[in-house]
Amino acid sequence: MEHNLWTRDRLHEFCETRLSGCKFIVVSNREPYIHQRGPDGIECITPASGMATALHPVMVATGGTWIAHGSGNADRDVVDAMDRVPVPPDQPAYTLRRVWLTPELEQGFYYGLSNEGLWPLCHITFNRPVFRPEDWAHYRQANEIFADAVIEEAGTEPTIVFIQDYHFALLPRILKQRGKGNLVIAQFWHVPWPNKEVFRAFPWGEELLDGMLGNDVLGFHIRLHCQNFRDTVDRVIEARVNPDLSLITRGGSDTLVRPFPISIDFAGHEAASQSPEVDRAMTLWAQRLNLRGRKLGVGIERLDYTKGIPSRLQAIDYFLTHHPEWRGRVVFVQIAAPSRSSLVSYQMEEAEVDALAAGINARWSTPEGPVLFLFKQHHGPVDMMALHRLCAVFMVNALHDGMNLVAKEFAASRADERGVLLLSRFTGAWRELNEAVSFNPFAVHEIGEALLTALDMDEAEQGRRMSRMREHIRFNNVYRWAGKILSILLKFDIPEFQSDGLESSSLD
Ligand code: G6P
Repeated sequence: MEHNLWTRDRLHEFCETRLSGCKFIVVSNREPYIHQRGPDGIECITPASGMATALHPVMVATGGTWIAHGSGNADRDVVDAMDRVPVPPDQPAYTLRRVWLTPELEQGFYYGLSNEGLWPLCHITFNRPVFRPEDWAHYRQANEIFADAVIEEAGTEPTIVFIQDYHFALLPRILKQRGKGNLVIAQFWHVPWPNKEVFRAFPWGEELLDGMLGNDVLGFHIRLHCQNFRDTVDRVIEARVNPDLSLITRGGSDTLVRPFPISIDFAGHEAASQSPEVDRAMTLWAQRLNLRGRKLGVGIERLDYTKGIPSRLQAIDYFLTHHPEWRGRVVFVQIAAPSRSSLVSYQMEEAEVDALAAGINARWSTPEGPVLFLFKQHHGPVDMMALHRLCAVFMVNALHDGMNLVAKEFAASRADERGVLLLSRFTGAWRELNEAVSFNPFAVHEIGEALLTALDMDEAEQGRRMSRMREHIRFNNVYRWAGKILSILLKFDIPEFQSDGLESSSLD
C-alpha cells in the first residue's frame, strides 16, 4: 500500500509529467486568503471553509491559478493590474486571481440564491429554501463574470478548469460554449445532492442541470449523491442516463458522474499539529478553561444550522441531567465561527445557541467556573489543533454534511492515538470513519448516551479506533483525491484507480 501513497510531491510530479503544457485553473467563490485592514495594517487570514482548506494544499502541489471572489476589504490593495496576487504570502506557490462583485450582486448570488436557495435545498435540515427571481438573475450574472475571468486566464491554451461547489452550477455550460475547445472541465459539489422529490422545489431546475452537464466530470462525495443526481436528471431534463457507466449524455457530450470522497493533507496537518507552537497553545487553553484534570469535550464549526449545534447543547444538558456522576468532571468548548450572519436563518440559529449555552451554564456551572465555553469567533489552525489534542471527546453533530473535514482533522492531530470522535451518521465522513462513536444527530438522547460511551472508553480501545481512522485518512488523503479526479478527467490509465472499480472506492 505504501508505494501507492499519494503525497504532495507525488501530485506535483504527476502534474509536471502528465499535465505539462496544460494550464490548471481552480474556481471557487470563497478565496483561500483574505486581506483585511486591521489595527496594525493589512492582515492576511484564511477563511473557515472546508473547501478552501482542502484545495489549498492541492494548489501548492499543482501550481496554477485559483480564481475566487475578492471578499476582503483590503483585497484590492494587494493585487496587481490583472487582479492577481501570489500566495501563500510567505512562500508563493500559485496565483490567486480575484474577481470583484458589486454588493448587490453578492447579495443576490452569494447570500440569496447560493445560501438561501441552494444551501438549504441540498441539506436535509428542514430549513425552507427561498427562491427569488432576482437572485437567480444575479446568480447567472455572477457565473458569467467568473466565466470571463476563466476565459481570460486560459486564453487559447489547453486548460483544465476545476470548479468548486454550488455557487457555480451554470459555469460549466457557459465555459463549454465560450471556450475554443481548449477547456477540460470538472466540478466538485462539496455539499449533498438532494433526492429528486426535493429538487422539484427548485424553480429553474432545467437550466441549473443543463449548466452542470457542461462538465466532463462531475464529482460528489458519496455514491448516494451521484445516484440522486442521476435520478434528478432523468426526471427533469432531456438526457440519456447510463447508470452502469454513470455517464450522462446531453446534446452529444458526456458527463461522467462519480463519487470522490474528499480528504485533508494528513501528513501536513499531522506535522503542524505536533509543533511547539501548538504545545504552547495547549498550555494556554488548559489555563483558560481551568481544566485541572477535568475531561474536555470540544466542537468546532461555523455557526451554521446544518452543523447541529443546538442539539449538541441539548445533549450536554441531557447528559448532565441523566449522568450526574459526571457533574464537575467535564468541561465543554464550543467554537462557533461567525458565518453568513446577515441572513435571518443564521441569526435565529445564533440566538438559539446563545440561549441554550446560557441555560446550561446557569444549571451546571460549578464554583470552579462555567461548564460550557462558547466562543463565537474564528480561530486559526494553531488553536484548533491545540483543542483537538487537549480534548477527550471531539463532537461532530452535523444534521447533514457532504463530508465534514473537521472530523478528519481531529484524527490527524491525534498522533498520540487518544481521544474519541463522536460523529453524526448524517455526514459523509461517517461512511469512512467506522471507528467513531456514531449517533443520529436529530435524537438528543442518542447524542447524550454516545457522549457517555466516549467519556467512559478505556485507552486501549481509544488507541485501536484512532489508529485505524488515522491510517484510513493517511492513505485516502487529499492528494489521492486530486490525483484520482485528474486521472479520470484526462482518461489516464492509472492501475490503482482502475482497480477501484467504477464506484467501489466510495461508500453508499
Ligand atoms: C461549505 C461550502 C464551501 C464554503 C464553506 C464556508 O463548506 O461547501 O464552499 O466555502 O461552507 O462558507 P462560506 O459561505 O463562508 O464560503
